[in-house]
Amino acid sequence: MSLKNVRLEVMQFLEKDVESLIQKYLIPIDSIWQPTDFLPNSESDTFFEEVREIRELSKELPYDFWVVLVGDMITEEALPTYESWLMDVEGVGQVERNGWSKWVRHWTGEENRHGDVLNKYLYLSGRVNMREIEKTTQYLIADGFDIGTDRDPYKNFVYTSFQELATYISHNRVAKIAKKSGNKQLGKMCQIISGDEMRHHHAYSEFVERIFKVDPNQMMMAFHDMMKLKITMPAHFLRESGNKISSAFEEFSNTAQRIGVYTSTDYVDILDKLIKRWEIDKITGLNDEAEKARDYLMNLPARMYRLSDRIKIPQNSFQFKWVEPAVSK
Ligand SMILES: [Fe+2]
Ligand SMILES: [Fe+2]
Repeated sequence: MSLKNVRLEVMQFLEKDVESLIQKYLIPIDSIWQPTDFLPNSESDTFFEEVREIRELSKELPYDFWVVLVGDMITEEALPTYESWLMDVEGVGQVERNGWSKWVRHWTGEENRHGDVLNKYLYLSGRVNMREIEKTTQYLIADGFDIGTDRDPYKNFVYTSFQELATYISHNRVAKIAKKSGNKQLGKMCQIISGDEMRHHHAYSEFVERIFKVDPNQMMMAFHDMMKLKITMPAHFLRESGNKISSAFEEFSNTAQRIGVYTSTDYVDILDKLIKRWEIDKITGLNDEAEKARDYLMNLPARMYRLSDRIKIPQNSFQFKWVEPAVSK
């Protein structure tokens, strides 16, 4: 049987449990938080006062902070790319509406609130150039992405396990910075987003765990292949208007490193967590190739920590079109 057919069979085998995993990891629409819970109510008479307060508090946060928040928001707003990618993964039945496509649709619904709430908040903040941001978002969606997972469910679930934890870290750190500057509302908002990301991370990690139980050799190879390739961020094609593809991503990621929102050490920490979570050292019954892949994975964090120590981040802010320099601090 071909590898592709084995993967399909495994996806079909696991599908019977997806309904219960949806219950375990996703929250019913009528009880989950909504963007309006964290934004001024435009039907209320106090709307303008609340907006004024947001604008005042926004002045307390520095230029690099806004760049990171904008980049995070754009990454969330490229959700159409992620949904269409995941709907195309082997075993996810778009037309048959199987458990996996139900998962992807519900997950997408939850994720959709992140870009939504951040977008509205940034619009109200008065600190950013929304038209430039909108153009970058449209470019990012139009450019799509290439994460090296192919249509392989194993690789895709490694990718999403990793990414959900990475977004947890960055939203959570942004929340801390906002709270520290006295902006409780923005802090709460970013914290609740990070909570969703953590929940999703646990879900995708459990999918991988379950695959390890039934197809350990190929699951090990998929984890190995993804880490060897390196996990690319979903916004790695980021660009500003008039510029080339990918031109803005490096500066965005430098900015996130500079303010400690997401660093190269975090990347290795995530890898280390995944190795521990999936108990890579304890998996038995591996063939020679998978044993080698395991060795590679087990040694990788130490090697990468040494490299990440040496990375130097430029100290000066990069001027993006998204955030007006006139009000930067
Ligand atoms: Fe998200
Ligand atoms: Fe997410």
